[in-house]
Amino acid sequence: MNLNALQAFGKEMLQANNIDTKGKDKDFAQRFSQHLDSIELLFNEIYGNHYHRNESFNALLSSIIHSYQQRSTTLLKKDAAKQKQGNWYLSHTITGMSLYVDRFAGNLNGLTNKLNYFDELGVNFLHLMPVFESPAGESDGGYAVSNFRKVDERFGSNEDLNTLIEKMNAQNMYLMLDIVLNHTSHHHEWAQKAKAGDPFYQEFFYFYDNRDIPNQLDQTMPEIFPESSPGSFTYIPECNKWVMTVFHHYQWDLNYSNPNVFVAMLDTVLYYANLGVDILRIDAPAFIWKQLGTTCQNLPQAHTLLRLIKQCVQVASPGMALLGEAIVAPDEIIKYFGTDQFIAKECDVAYNATQMALQWDALATGDTGVMLAAQHPIMQKPYGCTWIAYTRCHDDIGLGYDDYMIERAGFNPYQHRTYLKNYFAGWQEGSVAAGALFSVNPKTGDARISGSLASLCGLEKAVEWNSADEIENALRKIILMQAHSMFMGGIPMLFYGDELAYTNDYSYLQDPGKSYDNRWMHRPIMNWERNEKRKEHTTFEYRIFNETKKMISTRNKLEVMSDTKNVTWMTPHNIHVAGFIRSNEHKKLYCLFNYKNSASFVTWYAFKEHGERPSVLHDHWTGNDYQVGNDNEYFVLPPFSFALLEAK
Ligand code: GLC
Repeated sequence: MNLNALQAFGKEMLQANNIDTKGKDKDFAQRFSQHLDSIELLFNEIYGNHYHRNESFNALLSSIIHSYQQRSTTLLKKDAAKQKQGNWYLSHTITGMSLYVDRFAGNLNGLTNKLNYFDELGVNFLHLMPVFESPAGESDGGYAVSNFRKVDERFGSNEDLNTLIEKMNAQNMYLMLDIVLNHTSHHHEWAQKAKAGDPFYQEFFYFYDNRDIPNQLDQTMPEIFPESSPGSFTYIPECNKWVMTVFHHYQWDLNYSNPNVFVAMLDTVLYYANLGVDILRIDAPAFIWKQLGTTCQNLPQAHTLLRLIKQCVQVASPGMALLGEAIVAPDEIIKYFGTDQFIAKECDVAYNATQMALQWDALATGDTGVMLAAQHPIMQKPYGCTWIAYTRCHDDIGLGYDDYMIERAGFNPYQHRTYLKNYFAGWQEGSVAAGALFSVNPKTGDARISGSLASLCGLEKAVEWNSADEIENALRKIILMQAHSMFMGGIPMLFYGDELAYTNDYSYLQDPGKSYDNRWMHRPIMNWERNEKRKEHTTFEYRIFNETKKMISTRNKLEVMSDTKNVTWMTPHNIHVAGFIRSNEHKKLYCLFNYKNSASFVTWYAFKEHGERPSVLHDHWTGNDYQVGNDNEYFVLPPFSFALLEAK
C-alpha cells in the first residue's frame, strides 16, 4: 500500500473502533499513525506474500487498538510518566530478583505477603518465573505453557496475580513476566487440536509426514538438551506425523511463517502488557525462525519479528520494555538491540550472558585475560538499551564466548574450556566448586554448568570440610561476583536464595518430573525459618544478606551507575584484576575487582592515565580514603575483593 493510502486506511480503522483521535485518545492515535509505516513494512517483510496477508494485517491492527482500549487508567498514567522519564530502565535505582513463586513463597498470595522482604533487601523489581498453566511433570519450570492466559492453579488464580501486581504497584515495584514465544506445551489447545488432525492448527506448528525434512534439519540444528531430549523432532502417533520440538519433546515449536501464529502471540504480548508488566521477558527469541540448511538460530527473520513486536508495543503500551532472552554468541547477542536503521529499536534489554560467563571464567582461573579480550562486542550495546546484569539465574552457565577470545588471552580454547568444566564440576584438583555438567553432548564435547552461586563459589564444600578459611574465601567470592555484575552496568538481577548463600538443593533427584534436569539443583525451596538467620550476626546468611543489601544501597546512591553507556575499561596493569571506569559529568568511579586468591597490587599510575591525577581516592564500598602514592607504589586489593574509588 502506498503511504497515503496506508495512513487513510489506519484512520478508518481508528474511526471504526471509536477511537477519539482528537480528544482523549489523541496520544494513542498519534503513536498509531507514527508507527504504522514501520509496522506495515516489517509485517510485509515476513508475510507480504502470504495468501491471507490482508486479514492478518487487519487482525494485527485490531489487536493493537483493542488492547489499548482495554488498558487501565493506572497503566495509561504509568505509560505517560515513563515516556516523560525517557528510558526509565537505565536507572541506577532498579534492582531485580528472579524467583519461582511456589519455591519462594508457596503461591502468589504467599508472595504478596512477602513483599516486605524485598523492601528490606532493596529489591524493587521482580521477575516471576512462568506462572501460567503448565502441565506438572512436563513443565520445564513453566516454560511449556498450556494456557497463556490462565494462572496455574499451583500458584493461585488470575485474581491473586492481580492482587500481587496492585500491591507491588503501591510499593513502586516493577514487574517482569515471560512470554514463551517459541513454543507451547503439547497440552496447549492448539497442539491438542493439531494432534487430533485439525489442519488449521497443524499449521501452527512444524508438522512433517515423514523424516525427510527433519533428517535434513537435524544435520544443521544444534541440540539444546542432548541428554534429556536428543534431536529436534518428536513422533506423534495420534496423527502419525513428526513435529518440531527444539527444546523438550513436550515443547512444540510455533510456526511463525504462519501469520495467525504471530497475531495470536502478539495479542498475548499485549495481554501481558495490560496485566501491568514493566519488562516483558521474551523467552528464547533466537529460535523463532527456522530455515533449512541453517542452525535455525538468530536468523534475520527472527529479528524482523522482534522489531515488529517492539513497534506494536510502542503503540499499544509504550510503558512496557522488552527483554530479549538471547543466550547466544557475543556478536549475536548484541544484534537483539537492533541493527542498521533499527538500532535501539528492537529489544530494550538483553542478558549480559557473555560477561556473566566471563566472570565465572575469571573466578576459576584467577585471570581476567579472557574477560578483557571479550569486551569489544559487549561494549557495542547502543545508548538507550541496557543489560540484565547477573551472576546466576535459573538456567545453566554456558561458556558461549568465542574461541578467539580465549586464544587472545594466551590459552588453548579446548583445554581452557575443559579446565573450566572440570573446575566447576569439582573434578579439577584443588577445585572448591560443587556444580555439575549440564546437557553434555558427547558428539560435540559441549557441556554447560549447573550449580548455585554459593556452591560454585565453594561454600558447600567449605562447610562440609568445616574449613573457616575456605568459608571465608567462598563468602568473599560470592560478594565479588555479585558486585562485579551489579556495578558494571545494567539492571542487576539477583536470583532468589543467592542473597542468603543457599547452596545446591538435591531434592529434585526424588522428583521424576525434575530429576532429568540438573538445573533444578540451583533452584532452591526457600526455608523461611532458616532465612531468619539473616538477622543473627555470626551467620553467613547475615553476612551475605547484609553485604548484598549494602551493594544495592550503594548503587542506589551513585547516579553514575545509571546505564548511560558510560563504562570504559582501564588499561590492565595486573591480569588478576578487572578494572573499569564508570563516569558522568560529575563523577569518575574506578571499579576494581580482584579475582586472585591473594592480595593484588595495582600501580597508582593506573589512576593517573585517564585524564585526572587524583591525590586521594575514596572507596565507596569500604568508606576508606587512600592517599595516592608514587608511580612505583601500589594500591593493594585484598584476596577476592573489590573497590569503588572516586577521586576526591
Ligand atoms: C529459556 C529458559 C529456559 C528454558 C528454555 C525453553 O532459555 O530460560 O529455562 O528451558 O527457554 O523455554
